[in-house]
Amino acid sequence: MYRSHSCGELRASHINTEVTLAGWVQKSRDKGFMIWVDVRDRYGITQLIFDEDRTPKEIIERAKTLGREFVIQVTGTVIERSSKNPKMKTGDVEVLVSKLEILNAAKLPPFTIEDETDGGEDIRMKYRYLDIRRNPVKDSLIFRHKVSMEVRKYLSDQEFIEVETPYLIKSTPEGARDFVVPSRMNEGQFYALPQSPQTFKQLLMVGGMDKYFQIVKCFRDEDLRADRQPEFTQIDCEMAFVEQEDVLNVFEGLTRHLLKEINGVEVAEFPRMRYDDAMRLYGNDKPDIRFGMEFGELNEVTQHKDFGVFNNAELVVGIAVPGGNSYTRKEIDKLIDWVKRPQVGALGMIYCRVNEDGTFKSSVDKFYDQEDLAKWAEITGAKVGDLICVLSGETNKVRAQLSALRMELAERLGLRDPKVFAPLWVIDFPLLELDEETGHYHAMHHPFTSPKPGQLELLDSDPGSVKANAYDLVLNGNEIGGGSIRIHDKKMQATMLKHLGFSEEEAKAQFGFLMDAFEYGAPPHGGLAFGLDRLVAILGGQETIRDFIAFPKNNSGRDVMIDAPAFIDEAQLKELNIKLDIQK
Ligand code: AMO
Repeated sequence: MYRSHSCGELRASHINTEVTLAGWVQKSRDKGFMIWVDVRDRYGITQLIFDEDRTPKEIIERAKTLGREFVIQVTGTVIERSSKNPKMKTGDVEVLVSKLEILNAAKLPPFTIEDETDGGEDIRMKYRYLDIRRNPVKDSLIFRHKVSMEVRKYLSDQEFIEVETPYLIKSTPEGARDFVVPSRMNEGQFYALPQSPQTFKQLLMVGGMDKYFQIVKCFRDEDLRADRQPEFTQIDCEMAFVEQEDVLNVFEGLTRHLLKEINGVEVAEFPRMRYDDAMRLYGNDKPDIRFGMEFGELNEVTQHKDFGVFNNAELVVGIAVPGGNSYTRKEIDKLIDWVKRPQVGALGMIYCRVNEDGTFKSSVDKFYDQEDLAKWAEITGAKVGDLICVLSGETNKVRAQLSALRMELAERLGLRDPKVFAPLWVIDFPLLELDEETGHYHAMHHPFTSPKPGQLELLDSDPGSVKANAYDLVLNGNEIGGGSIRIHDKKMQATMLKHLGFSEEEAKAQFGFLMDAFEYGAPPHGGLAFGLDRLVAILGGQETIRDFIAFPKNNSGRDVMIDAPAFIDEAQLKELNIKLDIQK
């Protein structure tokens, strides 16, 4: 038996019992006649004491050789501590050691294994197994486990069946590039790793599984951000014989269950916002509604004077910053610099102070009088003491810029409280999105999403206006899930693919299997997928998903610990019939 108790378990009630513990040396203090060693495992830390008068000499000698992160096993008696530590769960006691085994020595770790470590991100990723010993990382992984367990429990209770789908498949387009895997046995041919199990879950519906879910890895070769990893995990779900309302209800139920069980928070019914309204009011299809600062469109009240910048703009739009009138001129100039950064891309910012006496002072007083500015305040909802920030230009760009400013200011004002949860559904997404570069439309969600009833006819005349039976679940400004009611009719799927630019042959080659299946009695169906990493991070009060993934990739998509991706040797390439045209 390696241990009788964990390092987080001993309390005053254990005093006088003999125990055996195993774990890692957190630190040791050698006072000559007395040595204290903190031993740590996943469950906590226990203080060990080696005392010249009471501990065998050879054990004392061995204790003196212990370094940080040595793996040890000790046996001893639990005694009451003379100076108790109320901050530790085991702080009432210590173990007077009678036996000590060094199970494994350890090199000095490259950073301190403490909550506040001296190790930077790069070094911690290289030695991720050491990073995992630290409480913040360990606790995040345990937290993730709890969320996954609750998800499985909830969905299983609702009669969802977890079914595994293959990883070596053909491309499932979700808008990113595929990671591909060469096939040795099929010369020149490649599998694609799934960007999601989308087509398989639809086939499971044709197969009559009725309610499916899977906690599943997905792979997308896309640029990385704090909320994106090349391999990430979805809670993927699908249901047969459902309409949008049914899907929203089930997964609102799941989300509410998680908020309650994991965070102890009860949330009211989730608001639903049409995509067009989200864009108009927040400039964003994943609005953070923990706070107001809604957009006010100002074209009508700004485009009647000689201010060319506004007159020439497609959209003039502003937000009221609560208490912003207290900003100094210098602070406002800094804000203007902030919106002009290339990452935001605004050309400038016009502002208007709402003074304590109710008068207005703007940066364009030359063009606008008090009456005009009062309208700005009315439309943006600005109150006494606020600052109105106004951007103008091309609609889509300006919305994105003002949205970035809104989020930045909210962050600075402390309005993005991670303990507050504000979920909502964004519905009625456009079916298609115009790719500005190629001039082609592509599916905004994916090609299997059905248009809203009666909209199919518009596909020819006004494709951009067609709305989809698609919905996203947004939590605190993050898209944590998305889904749709699917096309289940072969003809409609073919029409859809044609509009997305697939020739008949291409459609057949890529999705023939799905369309064939639709001819054998496909039930109406729909579903959604949550991003588990994102969901867990946000429930955990953070937005960086890396912290909740045991072995994440860095910003260049590398695993710096195992050093992947890596070159493979000539023999392996030859076997795969791959010739590389690069110098290693
Ligand atoms: P979608 O592409 O919207 O839908 O993905 C669903 C959810 O997965 C999460 N997500 C990611 N998380 C981390 N890193 C990434 N690179 C990443 N990409 C996406 C997001 C997103 O909301 N098959 C459809 C679902 C459906 O229609 O049922 C799909 O994959 O939280």
